[in-house]
Amino acid sequence: MFRLSGFQFPDAAARLYPDTPERPWVLEVGFGDGRFWPHHVQHSAQTFAEVPNYLGVELSGVSLLKAHRRLKSAGIGNAILSKMPADVLVREVIPEASLDAIIVNFPDPWPKAGHEEHRLLRVPFFELAASRLKPGGSILFTTDHDEYFEFACREAQASGVMQVETGDPPPAALETKYALKWRDLGLGVHHARFMPTRRTQVPHGSTLPYPETENDVPHAILTLPADFAPTDFQKYTAQGGPGHQGGHTVVLLDLYASLRRDGWVALAHVVEGELTQEVLVGITKRGDGSALVRLAKFGGPIITPGVKAAVGAVTAWLESEGATVTHRGY
Ligand SMILES: C[S@@+](CC[C@H](N)C(=O)[O-])C[C@H]1O[C@@H](n2cnc3c(N)ncnc32)[C@H](O)[C@@H]1O
Repeated sequence: MFRLSGFQFPDAAARLYPDTPERPWVLEVGFGDGRFWPHHVQHSAQTFAEVPNYLGVELSGVSLLKAHRRLKSAGIGNAILSKMPADVLVREVIPEASLDAIIVNFPDPWPKAGHEEHRLLRVPFFELAASRLKPGGSILFTTDHDEYFEFACREAQASGVMQVETGDPPPAALETKYALKWRDLGLGVHHARFMPTRRTQVPHGSTLPYPETENDVPHAILTLPADFAPTDFQKYTAQGGPGHQGGHTVVLLDLYASLRRDGWVALAHVVEGELTQEVLVGITKRGDGSALVRLAKFGGPIITPGVKAAVGAVTAWLESEGATVTHRGY
């Protein structure tokens, strides 16, 4: 199981699957309780020369644990599960032209009017997928939802980079938890295969893992007012962009005093499109009379423009309290 901070940006199959780097690579989006892949491996035993490398992405932590157990008991080793929004993984982690297939079984349909923007299969995702799929690769989409099916096919056409073919789903797509649920209700399913007609250029963002070297950690050095001893903290919001997915919002939620040393920690909520991170920013008094504001390693944050802005927001708040900044490293 991988956290976002466990990946490189972009990553490489050779690093993620060191024993099987040459095998085809399949991504499943929203794998739920993880029934698809073991069934698919079993159903396709004759067609696979060897079991492809599998990467699954989910938002739900409970699903992640269930799927992990299922893959383990099926004896499938070359599989990675990760918890994050699919589009963040595909954009930041997946190298160009590297996936053989993207499986999307019964995605959340967001049926209410005006909620279509939450759907995964829209033009931006098709453009992104056309950059990350290998030549000959495809998206395999199965759903029970008539309206989402038509919507996704329309969006694929509108992207101008996908050929749409309808047909029967892979048999294993009819064995997932949601497939069984709809089958019990007597409902049918739709299936489409979206194949890129050309390679798009969708750059990776400026996301980085937490730096190895001290100096590369987003930070600032400043002088606090002599009598600095905050007793009150109001929520503080900063917005900026364009950055990751066109902008970020930082909300400083709270400030905690350290009982062990002369310092504080601010809790920041950082939203950048689909990606949300909660990070800690430390404020530590140093021997030379200055203070260091620095992103903490706690929680494994990844460095995005919004996370840098969180360090900037703490610095700006301290300036509003009378601090003088001598160095900005964010
Ligand atoms: C309706 S369920 C289908 C689950 C499974 N594919 C099945 O057929 O049983 C949709 C799943 O997609 C996950 N999901 C929704 N949005 C997602 C996103 N942006 N990235 C990754 N997973 C997502 C949800 O947590 C949920 O488990």
